[in-house]
Amino acid sequence: PRVTIVGAGRVGSTLAQRIAEKNLADVVLLDIVEGMPQGLALDLTEARGIELHNRQIIGTNNYFDTSGSQIVVITAGLPRKPGMSRDDLLKTNAKIVVEAAKNAIAHSPNAIFIVVTNPLDVMTYLAWQATNLPRERIMGMAGVLDSARFETFIAMELGVLPADVKAMVLGSHGDLMVPLSRYATVNGIPVTELLDATTIERLVERTRNGGAEIVELMQTGGAFFAPASATSVMVESILWNQSRLLPVATYLEGEYGLIDVVIGVPCRLGCGGIESVLELNLTDEEIKALHSSAESVHQNIQRSQE
Ligand code: NAI
Repeated sequence: PRVTIVGAGRVGSTLAQRIAEKNLADVVLLDIVEGMPQGLALDLTEARGIELHNRQIIGTNNYFDTSGSQIVVITAGLPRKPGMSRDDLLKTNAKIVVEAAKNAIAHSPNAIFIVVTNPLDVMTYLAWQATNLPRERIMGMAGVLDSARFETFIAMELGVLPADVKAMVLGSHGDLMVPLSRYATVNGIPVTELLDATTIERLVERTRNGGAEIVELMQTGGAFFAPASATSVMVESILWNQSRLLPVATYLEGEYGLIDVVIGVPCRLGCGGIESVLELNLTDEEIKALHSSAESVHQNIQRSQE
């Protein structure tokens, strides 16, 4: 199989590395900057013999080279600077993502699309509109990353292995994300049994600010290692038809009482893309949080089209 990554920046190039080194697929890295994706592809290719995989990595500036991809990941666009919210990127990235989606679908009409560019939920909606794809085949990555952050903070607090912590974060990728703490467990034991409410709320807050915390520390762009790992999990679940149940930003058609908006909810991911959307029995408070999250995405979709 072949995966195209549009945007060979920090997230895109790290994702290319993950996909090749996990032996998931050949990779085409595309960017507007001339020479850059070609150089990265050569560098990654030179590591092939050491990392012991045999995946081809091609760098290009031309969509023709992306033809026939099974998956297209869009990471093209600007990342945040310190003090910026994801929404500040709206207008610039909207143009870039719509253009990328249209070009990519023209050469890979059967591909499944994963959008990574921020503001994530709005960009996924715009890419869905631009490609006219059924919702099964176009989605956004955010929840897997936000959940991994929440799990990390729980693991750090309890001094346990991160792999033993399972949690899910729904909603939009932003300040209004909805971490479901009552579902979080350490190997099946509810985290609510292990930590008091104030501590959990502190970890939830840190999760909501997880991206900004890294932007503030680095001062030059945002996170990319964990975002690339999170995206590779989605790529893997699709390519290997694993049907993993993951939080995925998807177009809602009435689920959770929401219509015509993209937001993160639990989805099964398999070879056809989104196989199903799971509707959890949320508490009134969680539903309210999900709806205000969706409302802010909705407003930004409208702003992007003004
Ligand atoms: P970066 O600046 O390192 O890379 C972006 C790349 O896009 C650059 O190489 C740039 O040349 C390229 N690009 C710009 N316009 C393009 C176009 N029209 N066609 C093709 N390529 C184009 O940024 P980074 O750190 O890789 O982040 C990429 C995006 O992903 C940002 O919007 C960032 O906010 C977002 N992001 C989203 C996450 C999520 O959870 N959904 C997590 C981390 C980042």
